[in-house]
Amino acid sequence: MKKVPFFRQKFTDENISNILTDVEGILKSGQLIFNKNVKKFEDAFAKEIGVKFAVSVNSCTTALMICLEYFNRRKLKVLLPSATFITTANSVLFTGAEPVFVDIQEGTLLLDFDDIKKKAGNDVSGLILVHLLGFMNKDMEKIRDFCSNNDLFLIEDAAHAIGTSLNGVKAGALGDAGCFSFYATKHVSTGGAGGMITTNDEDLCEFARKKRIFGKDSATGVIEYFGNDWFLDEIRASIGYSHLSFLKENLSLREKSAKKYDAAFRDFKNLKIFESTEGSTASLYQYAVLLSEGIDRSLLMKRLSQEHGIDTKPIYDPCHLETIYQSLPAYKNVSLPVTEDILNRSLAIPFFPGISGEEIETVLDAMRQEVG
Ligand SMILES: Cc1ncc(COP(=O)(O)O)c(C=O)c1O
Repeated sequence: MKKVPFFRQKFTDENISNILTDVEGILKSGQLIFNKNVKKFEDAFAKEIGVKFAVSVNSCTTALMICLEYFNRRKLKVLLPSATFITTANSVLFTGAEPVFVDIQEGTLLLDFDDIKKKAGNDVSGLILVHLLGFMNKDMEKIRDFCSNNDLFLIEDAAHAIGTSLNGVKAGALGDAGCFSFYATKHVSTGGAGGMITTNDEDLCEFARKKRIFGKDSATGVIEYFGNDWFLDEIRASIGYSHLSFLKENLSLREKSAKKYDAAFRDFKNLKIFESTEGSTASLYQYAVLLSEGIDRSLLMKRLSQEHGIDTKPIYDPCHLETIYQSLPAYKNVSLPVTEDILNRSLAIPFFPGISGEEIETVLDAMRQEVG
């Protein structure tokens, strides 16, 4: 039986050759941090997203923490989805604030504007909006207006959404700041871990540049903030820079594969696909389907793996139901019925830039046999 992996990262031969040349240059130069590769990567990334500033850091979680500290000086509550990766929520706790989870809209993976309005009380300072799997919220513009009219900051967690856009404006350029991840599995990877803050706010840019290197003003040497060594080094920046040059092709490969899945799954009786919002392009990070009620997801995953050699995963468990959040009294009685239902029924299937037509057909055949 031929196995289909859940994910396989792709660097082109040209990427690899450029990275090797750059790494050799970095090692020979003896300048391992804050040199031309970091600058090159930041400038190219700012251009890609369409913002004035991009500040590289060692992860998206760090990016979120720095932005939260900047926007949430009074450490008030922060609204965010529970349908996200756990460290989106942890970043709020790490900065001494309280995460308040908002439910998602029926049939989607994205925040419900009505629940945002309901929970945005006086003790809330802002919102982290996650473009989960690369999808854009259908109420994005309304949410943005609501935030600016109510003095709430808006941070986009764009870890899944490099290249997603709404009416021509890229994710990461729609809110007050965007936070990106270059983790090993992301569209653009710096090898292991890495992240970027995008913004048009010069003060945030200056703040982040100091926070990421021990809180120090590099011109005066004065320690102005409590910081740490949260920067991205030259070698990882060079990997990210080269991989960024593959983004356009990467997104087009993903789009072609997603279209094949979409077209086939539209005929399935026991599942639904997640659709893009009108006016937006989704730069899919993973491909997930929503299984009909009554389908035993664990059994399906087991059968797909054992009978067909296909690796699948739930997207995420809801953050508020994770053991560590359940150990905190504030989250014991939180109920987010749509989040719980949708994350329980969704299944991410093999999807990556180099997935072959044959691999897609293998997945579709297996899915047809099991849930068609
Ligand atoms: C939606 C989302 N936000 C934040 C993060 C954290 O990214 P990092 O691992 O770069 O800190 C991830 C990581 O996968 C993520 O999926």
